[in-house]
Amino acid sequence: MACLRGYLRGVTLTIPDPSLVLLIGPSGAGKSTFAARHFEPTEIISSDALRAMLTNDPSDQDASAEAFRVLSMLANGRLKRRLLTVIDATNLRVGSRKQFRQLAARYGIPTVAVAFDLPAEVFAVHNRQRPDRAVDAEVLADQTERMRDAMADLPTEDYNALFVLRDTAAGTTVAVDRVSRPRLASSVVPTKRRPAPSQRTLEQ
Ligand code: CTP
Ligand code: MG
Repeated sequence: MACLRGYLRGVTLTIPDPSLVLLIGPSGAGKSTFAARHFEPTEIISSDALRAMLTNDPSDQDASAEAFRVLSMLANGRLKRRLLTVIDATNLRVGSRKQFRQLAARYGIPTVAVAFDLPAEVFAVHNRQRPDRAVDAEVLADQTERMRDAMADLPTEDYNALFVLRDTAAGTTVAVDRVSRPRLASSVVPTKRRPAPSQRTLEQ
């Protein structure tokens, strides 16, 4: 697993194409900003956008279960066609991340995690600044707590690459390099034959 910890301006994140890219971070982390900057609109599946399509309100949590069913269906449809897919959701639950990894593995597609490990006040400030909507402080505190747990769990989870962004500006200053990944003979990647993980650590 390639692991870039921290962020140096000018660093390039190498992302296999196709791959499943999981953005991980609380509300206000900059996930949608990062996604819009580096990927095509059709490559991004956003839980907020699906909630908005269902209810006209991107933050309507009553529609979350339906939104995630649609999200999974779309992700499945794209991955089986070997199309790079970005999941723009908080992805703060271990079980949900595992389901996405399993879905990608079913089609022999690697999963890349991009975690926004920023100070709690950055999430709050971004939320206050946003013109459209803001999650309330209690929800944000809960998400920030779960992000701490996620940061402990992510290195133990099985990603082809894990990128940890610790610079607030990283989402907008980092470069993304998409590297074409040839199709394997088998559509399922046998876990035991995966290359040994290599780990790179870049500290700020
Ligand atoms: N923002 C910013 N600087 C960044 C990243 C984001 O000022 N480096 C601002 C955006 O312009 C936006 C707000 O912070 O107004 C939230 O960013 P967004 O990308 O929408 O955050 P998400 O992580 O997608 O939040 P949510 O989970 O609520 O969709
Ligand atoms: Mg967003």
